[in-house]
Amino acid sequence: MPLAKHEYVSDTWRDGIFANKVVFCTGGAGTICSAQVRAMVHLGANACIIGRNPEKTERMAKDIATARQGAKVIGLGNVDVRKLDSLEQAVQTCVQELGGIDFTIAGAAGNFLATINQASANAFKSVIDIDLLGSYNTLKATLPHLVKSAAAHRIDGNTPPRNGTGGRIIFVSATLHYAGTPFQAPASAAKAAIDALSASLCIEQGPRGITSNVIAPGPIANTEGMDRLARPEDVQALTRLVPVGRMGSVKDIADATVFLFGDTGNYVNGAVVVVDGGAWRTAGPS
Ligand code: HXC
Repeated sequence: MPLAKHEYVSDTWRDGIFANKVVFCTGGAGTICSAQVRAMVHLGANACIIGRNPEKTERMAKDIATARQGAKVIGLGNVDVRKLDSLEQAVQTCVQELGGIDFTIAGAAGNFLATINQASANAFKSVIDIDLLGSYNTLKATLPHLVKSAAAHRIDGNTPPRNGTGGRIIFVSATLHYAGTPFQAPASAAKAAIDALSASLCIEQGPRGITSNVIAPGPIANTEGMDRLARPEDVQALTRLVPVGRMGSVKDIADATVFLFGDTGNYVNGAVVVVDGGAWRTAGPS
């Protein structure tokens, strides 16, 4: 018997695939996460972005909203991902204003260059608290809403999703810990733990229809991270290490996000999607 269209091709990569869906994103005013959210909004979602700086976060929310006529994008600044109650309040506002949460992106991060000798124990803790505890808090605060969304979009057996997708989380990690990366020990340790957190979540919550995946960006051009962590000559050296011969773009990360959140990602759970042009295979720093 010939296969029906939905049995061999995903109904994705078209306008409106995320219509009536809500994405909640920490670090959403940053260069990488704002591109992820912008792609989701362009394809129909409404969004709530979370940041520490109110002015920057509100400005970015307005900018992202221009991706689609009629889009609702809320920017909540002054939220500290290190504090669960701060995030829970933000989640409450998001749910009140936008009606729920279908997708979570845990993207808030902090990092600096220093040797283990130079940085204090408190400096180490600060990065771990923002990157790792912040990712856990983002998950903890949004999980009840993801569970509701997953139940509404449940796929059983071979039945294709009826109302799009929902109940999904992406953690934004890094490739720092695949080999040892000097001068970034706190971020490397935090990102390794984030990969482990996602792996636990995928097993624990998969039966409830939640999917948990990691996107590990490599060297992405024109980002705050690159500005803070790499000099122009470092960027040239990094580019030489990338097998495909170029730095990544924020679009590369946005495309991976749409893949994982769209129905192309229905059976992807517990994956680390490395988006780095193959640089990590060279075992050099990226
Ligand atoms: C050594 C430093 C330091 C530095 C801060 N500290 N910067 N130590 N070298 N360059 C120390 C401080 O002295 C202090 O320790 C402790 O860290 C906390 O600093 P605070 O400024 O009080 O804390 P806080 O405001 O929370 O700062 C967090 C931070 C900071 C992460 C330390 O760098 C920050 O806010 N960064 C902004 C966000 C950011 O980094 N964005 C880029 C992310 S890019 P003492 O002992 O003095 O109290 C990214 C990409 C990762 O994450 C992957 C790359 C591929």
